[in-house]
Amino acid sequence: MSNQMWGGRFETGPDEVMEEINASIGFDRKLADYDIAGSLAHVAMLARTGIIAEADALAIGEALIEIRGEIENGNFTFSRALEDIHMNVESRLADLIGPTAGRLHTARSRNDQVAVDFRLYIRAALDLFDSRIEALQIALAEKALAYAGAVMPGFTHLQPAQPVTFGHHLLAYVEMFGRDRSRFKDARARLNECPLGAAALAGTSFPIDRAQTATALGFDRPTANSLDSVSDRDFVLETLAAASICAMHLSRLAEEIVIWTTPQFGFLRLSDKFSTGSSIMPQKRNPDAAELVRGKSGRIFGALAALLVVMKGLPLAYSKDMQEDKEGTFDALENLALCLAAMTGMIRDCEPDLTRMKAAAGAGFSTATDLADWLVRNLAMPFREAHHVTGRLVALAAGKGAGLEELSLAEMQQVEPRIGQDVFAVLGVENSVASRTSYGGTAPENVAAQARRWLTLLGRGA
Ligand code: ARG
Repeated sequence: MSNQMWGGRFETGPDEVMEEINASIGFDRKLADYDIAGSLAHVAMLARTGIIAEADALAIGEALIEIRGEIENGNFTFSRALEDIHMNVESRLADLIGPTAGRLHTARSRNDQVAVDFRLYIRAALDLFDSRIEALQIALAEKALAYAGAVMPGFTHLQPAQPVTFGHHLLAYVEMFGRDRSRFKDARARLNECPLGAAALAGTSFPIDRAQTATALGFDRPTANSLDSVSDRDFVLETLAAASICAMHLSRLAEEIVIWTTPQFGFLRLSDKFSTGSSIMPQKRNPDAAELVRGKSGRIFGALAALLVVMKGLPLAYSKDMQEDKEGTFDALENLALCLAAMTGMIRDCEPDLTRMKAAAGAGFSTATDLADWLVRNLAMPFREAHHVTGRLVALAAGKGAGLEELSLAEMQQVEPRIGQDVFAVLGVENSVASRTSYGGTAPENVAAQARRWLTLLGRGA
């Protein structure tokens, strides 16, 4: 049997292995809906421009809608011999309406067809990310407002550094996810040009109306260069790059959840809905969802690296290498959407242990900077000298196994005679955070104001 799709030039069909390596129907069936949307816009344009007869366009359009229903209901038989989603749909179209089906592919190639399908798929993913990240930001900002004044240790080098509030920590992630949304929005704006009508690579001699198909598919305008239209995958790369950064943010938060939920830290409790047990150790409450969010970042970064490598050596215009753009991308974007939902659930339901957080906030001489600042402000000491004096006080306390606030005034005065009783006011963790009123600082009033600002931006203002 010669090839079913381009039999004219061929005497035999493909080798079994050729068919296996060539087929993309196993994964590009995900594009079915977008493929049919693209075909509907194309056929309507062909009729309106008089390139094909109105009656033919009508028959094609009706059959395409029928095929869409078959696919939705699971009644469609996908065939590997038909290679990809485009051929599968077109072949079914021929079953349904005969030779008229062949008019659909006028002034079109699978090269511009797949480019339009993939843009539509990515655009839908970008819109989903925007709403999922928004939900995550709302969950974080609501928690941040509730815990604007809840003291916890702030870390550098994962060593207790200075006290901050739990709300402040959560709002750091709201900022990150805000940047992620703006990157996705940016990618969407650049993506939103329609490659349909570029045909194989050079455009077409038929009097097509590309503005019409672009508008029908919700694009801002047609792409301006036919070679670029069929060989560009920047819209995928940009999306994967932004997805990778977003996945990195999710992974950092996941890592913190893993640390915070250990019995050693004990800062946070995940709800039963987002914890798992162990089949052998009855005491365990494992943060599997957080670990998976952290772990899945790997395949998302991997998809970006893989596609960059696929694209980097390709001469213009289309090469079949580009069929390798899909599986990793589908996998990465579906997993990112899942990670966003899982993180939102974890954050919504989690409960901080305020007592443990506060106790830890006071450990490790975390108010040493406050003491140094006190020396600068009250004794007019240069900061470097204050740093040195504070260091000696910390050493004194450490030697006694005590906290800074547990030193007596007399002990402090052995190190610096001018220290007065009022120094104790800055040594408590609550005082420490309350004093950080600089813009962007962790003072509870700042944190509450920032949480409210975000909630208003997110449409959840009071
Ligand atoms: N399945 C192909 C892909 O995903 C569609 C485009 C095929 N074009 C071609 N000239 N063989 O890239």
